[in-house]
Amino acid sequence: MVRVLFVCLGNICRSPMAEAVFAHKVRLAGLEEKIHADSAGTGHWHVGQPSHSGTRGVLKQKGIDYFHRARVIAPSDLHTFDTILTMDNANLADVQGMPGAGTNIHPFLEYAPDTGVSEVPDPYYDGRFEDVYALVDKAAAGLLAAIRREHGF
Ligand code: 4NP
Repeated sequence: MVRVLFVCLGNICRSPMAEAVFAHKVRLAGLEEKIHADSAGTGHWHVGQPSHSGTRGVLKQKGIDYFHRARVIAPSDLHTFDTILTMDNANLADVQGMPGAGTNIHPFLEYAPDTGVSEVPDPYYDGRFEDVYALVDKAAAGLLAAIRREHGF
């Protein structure tokens, strides 16, 4: 099983959307027995809450079914997950700064090089959830293709 963790700040907007979009692609490819996705935040403010209504709205519009409760990234996640994908540079620095952090932490948008963007902008303040979806959809496709290439399925 390949385990992938998406990380943002609050775990209610970006990383849940990334998890849901990626997991949807995994299901469409029939690979749900081989690839597991989860998400977490570096901040604790929204622990236990569902994803933001903006994220839920985009996912519903795209026909993506998703259940979520926010959680904070735990030290055990650093080795439970094969790959940890961060949404912006602050998330990257925060996760890399956790005791026990390894080399399996990468900016998610490394998997969408053609976007020319290196960070997923936070829609919590500006409400641009559609823009986040466009980036996340491309990076999720790139990530899935990379995993399939690496593991041969
Ligand atoms: P996210 O967005 O990191 O994409 O989930 C945010 C959610 C909540 C807050 C900031 C960003 N907040 O400050 O509560």
